[in-house]
Amino acid sequence: MHREKHGKETDRKISFDFRNMMATVVGDENGIAETMIDELSDEISRVDDNLKKKRERGNLPFFDLPYQDALVEELIDFVDRLKPRFENLVVLGIGGSALGAIALKTALTSPFYNLLSKPERKGNLRLFVADNIDPDEFNMLLRVLDPKETVCNVISKSGETAETMSQFLIMKEWFGRKLSKEEMRDHIIVTTDKESGNLRTIVEKEGYKDFVIPAGVGGRFSVFTPVGLLPGAAVGIDIGELLSGAAFMDTLCRKSSVWENPAYMNGTLHFLADVRKGKRISVMMPYAAALRDVADWYRQIWAESLGKKLSLNGETVYVGPTPVRALGVTDQHSQLQLYIEGPSDKVITFITVDQYCEKLPIPRLYPEIEGLDYLGGHTLNELIQAEQRATAVSLSKNRRLNCTINLPCVSAFSIGQLLFFLEVQTAFIGGLYRINPFDQPGVEEGKQYAYGIMGRKGFERKKEEADALPAERDRYII
Ligand code: PA5
Repeated sequence: MHREKHGKETDRKISFDFRNMMATVVGDENGIAETMIDELSDEISRVDDNLKKKRERGNLPFFDLPYQDALVEELIDFVDRLKPRFENLVVLGIGGSALGAIALKTALTSPFYNLLSKPERKGNLRLFVADNIDPDEFNMLLRVLDPKETVCNVISKSGETAETMSQFLIMKEWFGRKLSKEEMRDHIIVTTDKESGNLRTIVEKEGYKDFVIPAGVGGRFSVFTPVGLLPGAAVGIDIGELLSGAAFMDTLCRKSSVWENPAYMNGTLHFLADVRKGKRISVMMPYAAALRDVADWYRQIWAESLGKKLSLNGETVYVGPTPVRALGVTDQHSQLQLYIEGPSDKVITFITVDQYCEKLPIPRLYPEIEGLDYLGGHTLNELIQAEQRATAVSLSKNRRLNCTINLPCVSAFSIGQLLFFLEVQTAFIGGLYRINPFDQPGVEEGKQYAYGIMGRKGFERKKEEADALPAERDRYII
């Protein structure tokens, strides 16, 4: 696939088109009036101020991740030494420790990348991200891989997560069947916190190569740390360009005016759509298969950051729009009927692409069939863009809110911009909701019940709590 650097930064800028969110286009009942944005201006300034102060004090380190030249060099150098020795990289991680790597691979390598030969992959490694513990799936993965040709990257910020740690134990034993303890050391890379967690203890005990997830960067904001960058570099993604894209977006997202800052504007519009217009569902619908897992990554950052019971001052608020992933054009034939005629409770964000890597002409084979001949002479590129436009028109005509983030092409630079845009947008809207978008108490509680149920010392109370839930009545089970 192409993905090369080309053109000036400004020509490669992604854009945000929110015309179809506005009352002037979709009407007063559903649309956002400019006066609503004006009325929110004090809140917007308050959140902007807060983010900037926290950033200055070093309390929001995700903001600084685009600027890591030394780390980029270190990672490229490290994976360049892995490439001649290994065929496969297996990432063990879940949630924020997996979704960034998956999104980058799907966006920036060929759809059938793992099926390509090593020369076709330009010497880069195949990448398998094991982000589930389904025993069938995980065991079948191990069955098709050769331990001698495989290196694994265990990624866990806490160094404790039961799923990832279990996979690590299984995989270590799997390596041990074919490799000596000495050999195995070169096959295991750990990405975790600098100081805490069991994974850190293991690194110290075993001497595994390790990379650090910076303090204060949570899983879902960690794609620009070794969590996403190491797997990215292993499959040949230009991680320097990725960070340049993020840094370029940072210049736009530093602007205080909501009218100049795309992340603030999208955050503001989504907030108003939710709290003032009852649009509780946020659908991300890329019109490029390469971006389907960016939508999955978005689903996590939006859900885990914004779904909160308590506000910053401890009030019970139960906020959080529900993110949904869809894919154009596939889901036009699955979800779109609901989006157009079902409850008016959604905002659809399209991600569009001007230039696809390939151009595929549609041949003119049946000139005598009028209803088919119109396609001939066009390209699939024109068709997919026409389909997106048609979908946006139908939604708008039916007064359904929609907006578009447009990428000139899918490149490391544009993906860096897009992911950073969505990170800032999440941090910003979290401020408008007056919740903490950087914690995940619900997820932590679930982890603790799992530890208790599995018999981990120190979590006996959690097991008791789980056992004390009202016993199932047989008549509720059919
Ligand atoms: O975004 C998050 O914080 C979570 O999704 C975590 O990444 C996920 O729970 C895995 O945690 P850890 O990286 O500690 O294993």
